[in-house]
Amino acid sequence: MRRAKALLSSRNGRRLHPLAIRIMHWINAGAMLVMITSGWGIYDDDVIIKGMHFGQSLRLGDWAVWSLNWHFAGMWLLTINGLCYLAYGIVTGRLRERLLPIRLSDFIQTVRDTLHFRIQHADLTNYNAVQKLLYIVVIVAGISQVVTGLAIWKPVQFSGLVSILGGFQSARVIHFLGMAVIVGFLIVHVLLSLLVPQTLWAMLAGGPRVGPSGHGEPETRQ
Ligand code: HEM
Repeated sequence: MRRAKALLSSRNGRRLHPLAIRIMHWINAGAMLVMITSGWGIYDDDVIIKGMHFGQSLRLGDWAVWSLNWHFAGMWLLTINGLCYLAYGIVTGRLRERLLPIRLSDFIQTVRDTLHFRIQHADLTNYNAVQKLLYIVVIVAGISQVVTGLAIWKPVQFSGLVSILGGFQSARVIHFLGMAVIVGFLIVHVLLSLLVPQTLWAMLAGGPRVGPSGHGEPETRQ
C-alpha cells in the first residue's frame, strides 16, 4: 500500500484522472446503463408500484427473459469493474484523497452557493463537499445493488442474506430504491458535467496535472 502511494506521489505531475480511472469510469457508465434499462425490462414483468411501467423504448430486451440475460451480462461487467475501481482507489489512496474529508461547513456553503447559482468550477482538482457526498452515496448504492441483486438472484443459496434484508420482496424493493438513487444521481451528474464541460473533457482526456497531494498545481521540478 505504502509503495503504491509512494509511486503515485513520486510521479509528480500525474493527471487528475489517470487512464485507469477514465477507463473504469466509462466502462461503469456503459454497464450502469445496461443494468438500469434491462432492470426496467425485468421490472415490467412484475411491477412493484401498481400502474408504474417503463415504455418499450426505455427497456433493454424485447421481453423479460432477454432483459434478464442483459442484466446478468451487465452484472459481471459492473461487479468486476467496480471491484477494480474500489481496489485501485483503496491501494493508491485515491478514494480518500478525492472524497474525504467532508466538512459540514463546506457542505452548507456549497449548497448556499448552488442555490445562488454560484457553481465553483475554477479548480477541477478539488471536489466540493456535495460532490464528494454524492460520489460516496452512489458508490454505496452500487455496492448495495450488487448485494441485494445476489439475494434476489439466488434466494435459496443466500437465504441468510435474504432474511437480513427482511425477506425476498423487501430485498426487491431495496434493489428498486437503489436503482432510483442511482438514476437520480445520474440525472444531476450528467447535467452538471454538461454545465461545466471542462470536467467532462477532463474525464475523457485526463485533465490538469496535479501535485503529489492530488490537488492543485504540480510542484515545479528543480
Ligand atoms: C454517461 C454518463 C456519465 C457522464 C457524462 C459522467 C461524467 C463524469 C465526469 C465529467 C466526472 C468528473 C467530475 C469532476 O471532475 O468534477 C465524473 C466522475 C465520477 N463519476 Fe461519472 N459520468 C457518467 C456516469 C457515471 C455513472 C453511471 C456513475 C456511477 C453510477 C458515475 C460515477 C462517478 C464517480 C464516482 C466519479 C468520481 C470518480 C473519481 O474521481 O474517482 N458516473 N463523471
